[in-house]
Amino acid sequence: MTASLATLSLPNPVLTASGCAAAGRELHQFFDVAALGAVVTKSIMTRPRSGRATPRMAETPSGMLNSIGLQGPGIDSFIENDLAWLAAHGARTVVSIAGGHTDEYVEITRKLNGNAAVSMLEVNISCPNVESRGQVFACDVHASSRVIGAVRRAADPALPVFAKLSPDVTDITLIARACADAGADGFSLINTLLGMVIDTDTMAPALGGVTGGLSGPAIRPVALRCVWQVHQKLPSYPIIGMGGIRCGLDALQFILAGASAVSVGTAVFGDPSAPVRVLAELEAALDARGFASLAGAVGYAHRAPEHRLGPDAPQAAAS
Ligand code: SIN
Repeated sequence: MTASLATLSLPNPVLTASGCAAAGRELHQFFDVAALGAVVTKSIMTRPRSGRATPRMAETPSGMLNSIGLQGPGIDSFIENDLAWLAAHGARTVVSIAGGHTDEYVEITRKLNGNAAVSMLEVNISCPNVESRGQVFACDVHASSRVIGAVRRAADPALPVFAKLSPDVTDITLIARACADAGADGFSLINTLLGMVIDTDTMAPALGGVTGGLSGPAIRPVALRCVWQVHQKLPSYPIIGMGGIRCGLDALQFILAGASAVSVGTAVFGDPSAPVRVLAELEAALDARGFASLAGAVGYAHRAPEHRLGPDAPQAAAS
């Protein structure tokens, strides 16, 4: 079950999704966070931030809208408290970073350099809950390239830098290509889709921030399509796939589409143990299909029919 993400090797491919498990402490009462491939922390900014007006969450069919607005303690407190806690508990940590301007991403990156507790940077350029759409860098090739290039130059060269992209674009592969050219080592696909709910009693938007990010099983086909498209265009770039993963077979779909690892997000709100359950189910599903390793399944669905594994030819999967 070893997962390979650029220069980072993880013992297994199941991670938390940024924003759904803060910095791991809440989940640790349900399972040992060190059992996961890694904990992906809530996107952190330079300074403490209180986020958007309430209400910040709304239920939707097969999903959830959030409008948190990147609430968080700021990078200094995060390093001192959260990162230190994760390291003390043996968890591998992918730090999600966010900023309003390129300089803020660079400032955070520099503060994280040299910290042995950081396994990877996930650069969140796709949060939909920002003051202006112009700050959703991942909706524009030039802005994406600028931020990712700046982070890549500022980061410790040994630290993998993954770009977290938005599905709310015409062609996600153009954004991915721009990030790759700017130095991204891989991708996290996908962030939430911009959506809204109107409360029919108050006849006003249900969220204080009016719009929010849609997550959960409702977006899984969109997320899977994005992973498929980016893997097809940039097959050598590792992908962490996410969007509505609730069980091992959901995770398997992402792996077969081209993801080298998966993040479990919204599912933890209903089932905090979901990440470890998904891991066990994924392992069983790979085994049942004759895969000798996770690597043999990555992108498998892209194979031509004559090169796909039949139920009677399990050895083919190992090649
Ligand atoms: C938020 O804090 O508003 C969500 C962050 C994100 O979706 O990137």
